[in-house]
Order: sequence, then C-alpha cells, then structure tokens
Amino acid sequence: MKIVIGCDHIVTDVKDKLKESLISKGHEVYDVGTYDFVRTHYPIFGQKIAENVASKKYDIGVAICGTGVGISNSSQKIKGARVALVRDLLSAEIARSQYDANIIAFGGRITGLGIMEEAIDVFINTKFNGEKEVVNFLDNIVKKNKTVSFKKELKDWEKGKYHD
Ligand code: RB5
Repeated sequence: MKIVIGCDHIVTDVKDKLKESLISKGHEVYDVGTYDFVRTHYPIFGQKIAENVASKKYDIGVAICGTGVGISNSSQKIKGARVALVRDLLSAEIARSQYDANIIAFGGRITGLGIMEEAIDVFINTKFNGEKEVVNFLDNIVKKNKTVSFKKELKDWEKGKYHD
C-alpha cells in the first residue's frame, strides 16, 4: 500500500519508528516531514499529508503530533480527507468500516508504538461496509478546497525564525 506519513517536531522519533515498521512490512512510504526536532507547526504537515491522500497519490495517511489533536484537525480541513484520531484498535476498525477514513492520526505522547502499529494494520486490513451516501454527505460539507500556502512560514523557518 502507498502510505504518506508526517508529524510535528514533538514526535519525529515516533514517526521514524512507524515509518521503518511500515517499510519492513512492504509498504511504500512517503515521509513529508518534519525530519528533526526543531520547532515547527503541525498544520504544515497535516495539510501535506491530507493533500497527498485527497489527490489519491497515496492510499492512506498517518499523521502524528503530541496529542494527535492538532495534526488530525489540520488534515481534516482538506476536502476529501477523512481523518480518525485513534487510540485503540476498535476505533481504527470502525473508522474504516463505517467512516471510510483515509487518514489515521495518533498522539505520539499519548499512545504507545505497539498500539499504533497494530492500529495501522487494522486500519489497512478493514474494508468499508458502511453507507456510501453518508460518506458522500461528509465529503461534500466542504465544496471546494481553497487552502493557504505555508510558503512564507517555511521561508521564515529556514531563516531560523522558529528555532528555540
Ligand atoms: C506541540 O506543537 C503540540 O501542541 C502538538 O504536538 C500537539 O500536541 C497538538 O495537538
């Protein structure tokens, strides 16, 4: 499966471990960053993950920040992204079977690596068997994407503005 993964600076080590584990299971993984522990902003990465999934370049997304709240909310703002913040295996299953979620989000400071790995497996292996009409309603709450670009913030970041 083609998987896009991303995180903020709080949980880069967790993201790297999840990425290794997904690659070892044979998945193709695109890591949108962040790649180190320098302070950044989770909306940048939430948006990147969701755009790659909503455009269907990648089958599913994995989004991680400290609590999972910031990055899951950020991803959810992109039309076509259906994000589930998951802390247990049943939620991972239902997110897929009923909601047809295409992004699974975690709090890397809240949930252990073992649960995250298992939850991603459940998410991947569960088929949607819910009401397509409801998912269509959900997808059409937002009619069009008119998203911002974080180009300015990324330039400021390169110049060191966000460094602690
Ligand atoms: C740090 O930016 C922290 O707020 C973030 O990782 C996350 O916990 C937000 O939900």
